Amino acid sequence: MTVRVGFLGAGFIATYHAWMLATSGAAASMAGVFDPDRERAERFSRDHGARVHPSVEALLDAVDAVYVCTWTSEHRHLVGEAAARGLPLFCEKPLATDLADATDLVASVHRAGVVNQVGLVLRDAPACLLVRSLVGDPDAGRVMSVVFRDDQYLPVEGMYGSTWRADAARAGSGTLLEHSIHDLDLLEWWCGPVTSVCARTAQFHPHEGIEDVAVGLLAFESGATGSLTSVWHDVVERPSLRRVEIFCERRWIALEGDLTGPVRWQQRGGPAVAVEGEELSDELARRGIAPRNPDGAFIAAVLSGTPASPDLATALRAHVLADACYRSAASGGAPVEVGHGAT
Ligand SMILES: NC(=O)c1ccc[n+]([C@@H]2O[C@H](COP(=O)([O-])OP(=O)(O)OC[C@H]3O[C@@H](n4cnc5c(N)ncnc54)[C@H](O)[C@@H]3O)[C@@H](O)[C@H]2O)c1
Repeated sequence: MTVRVGFLGAGFIATYHAWMLATSGAAASMAGVFDPDRERAERFSRDHGARVHPSVEALLDAVDAVYVCTWTSEHRHLVGEAAARGLPLFCEKPLATDLADATDLVASVHRAGVVNQVGLVLRDAPACLLVRSLVGDPDAGRVMSVVFRDDQYLPVEGMYGSTWRADAARAGSGTLLEHSIHDLDLLEWWCGPVTSVCARTAQFHPHEGIEDVAVGLLAFESGATGSLTSVWHDVVERPSLRRVEIFCERRWIALEGDLTGPVRWQQRGGPAVAVEGEELSDELARRGIAPRNPDGAFIAAVLSGTPASPDLATALRAHVLADACYRSAASGGAPVEVGHGAT
């Protein structure tokens, strides 16, 4: 069987997923696309062979699974419509513009019981997988502290070229929700549950409700402490760049490139090690870790009817953390407790 895949939204990330699907070898066909921006839909159709549909309903009628790749404010109602039809769906992060809508969205998917996956694609990035393995190794000892810095130019220009990211009604808020929701997810995925946050946000660009600096101090259940600094600046030569240092009792780990490295580490009594590219792939293989194509994995889950991963409930946990950071920042940085979450 071939899964007929439809795309709601024909922009930057839809193009990425179409390309990933094509290279995955998955049994999927590009069955359709709808975007109110007709020119974009037609370009997507020419590039990927998907037929342009005149409405959301027409697209949903014609496909077996759907990708929701619109700007964030559209996710909730589009996921709701797809789920109500029993369609498996892949929704981009953030799930919604705030925690309440994200919670409703996840509830609609659970009610329908459909296969669902979220675009927290860094969980499949080779460098991030290696960091998880290095941190989880008992030889490293316990995580003591993590320093996470994430910066990129305000994504209304360059390869993102979006106006909606400067509009709080469509994006929800700024760098923490739109971009660093990935980072909040990675922090718990690597270091375990967060129990409390203190945060500050700031705004230098003239876009109301769009913070361009967010700094959070995180307390982990394990006793570790971490910081996250997320910045949207104007240095267009710096697209999405992450640098993370994790200090464990007997190992230091640094991530300098979130996809293929470099990843560096040093174990007590051992040499400094750095791997990147093919060497990083070899290191993963040595550890028995096989990176997967997340889009191919989604289609495999659709075909087998088994749960996909990471699912929307996983992303909801990152929304809980982002919401706690925003509430802390609104109160001048006071600690906000967060309930226990699965990672
Ligand atoms: N996982 C990642 O790393 C990653 C990276 C980039 C973007 N994203 C997320 O993907 C989403 C889209 O971002 P983008 O960069 O592709 O934006 P984009 O502006 O390039 O594309 C969004 C498209 O959605 C269309 N759209 C709006 N409402 C629609 C509707 N009701 N039905 C169909 N199409 C509609 C717009 O016309 C636009 O073409 C956002 O939520 C963003 O946060 C995730």
